[in-house]
Amino acid sequence: MDRQVKIAPSILSADFSVMGEEVKDLEKNGADMIHVDVMDGVFVNNITFGMKMVKDIRKVTSLPLDAHLMIVEPWRYVERFAEAGADIITVHYEACRERLSETLDLIGSTGKKRGLVINPDTPVEPVRDLITACDMVLVMSVFPGKGGQKFIPDVLPKVVEIRKIIDESGKNIDLEIDGGVNLENVSLIKKSGANVLVAGNTVFSAEDRRAVISALRND
Ligand code: DX5
Ligand code: ZN
Repeated sequence: MDRQVKIAPSILSADFSVMGEEVKDLEKNGADMIHVDVMDGVFVNNITFGMKMVKDIRKVTSLPLDAHLMIVEPWRYVERFAEAGADIITVHYEACRERLSETLDLIGSTGKKRGLVINPDTPVEPVRDLITACDMVLVMSVFPGKGGQKFIPDVLPKVVEIRKIIDESGKNIDLEIDGGVNLENVSLIKKSGANVLVAGNTVFSAEDRRAVISALRND
């Protein structure tokens, strides 16, 4: 099955003092989506930004905004991220647990795309039955909280397994990977079945962002 590969640079690695310029530069250099890492200092040991960031970058790009909510009780903020302009709202199984299904329904009710994410040490089992209720499934390949970490290859069998579930469903569900993606591991990651690639450090540390984004997509 031919899958469209999409590159989603993470603005966690951007220079926040010129975020608008950074986002415009990503669009100019061929990014397919903007990955917006929202952190609350509770679910993860870091704090980034919230709905206002989404609202402001919404004004400078037409690219889909991919909001990765690393926050506790994300159901409390889904509607506000939707109103701010997020296109995909992704919530952690580990933050929702028995409220995951209702939270995905809530995202759907806002008209936005429903995303669920699992940490490197979370198996597929607890989310298996909800995969086909999503528009995107995100497999973390680092423990959430910061950029520039090393890719955890042990997550690849989960990518293979989730890709099989998606393909068997016949539904057009994206499979995203997030954390430590680079030019060395990207080919194996895509072969495993991921088609949406988050890249923070790899893109923002590059001399030539257009070349790196293109290489991540085509290598
Ligand atoms: C980590 C974030 C990731 C991270 C990716 O908690 O969810 O999106 O910013 O950055 P790199 O590609 O540098 O690992
Ligand atoms: Zn992320």
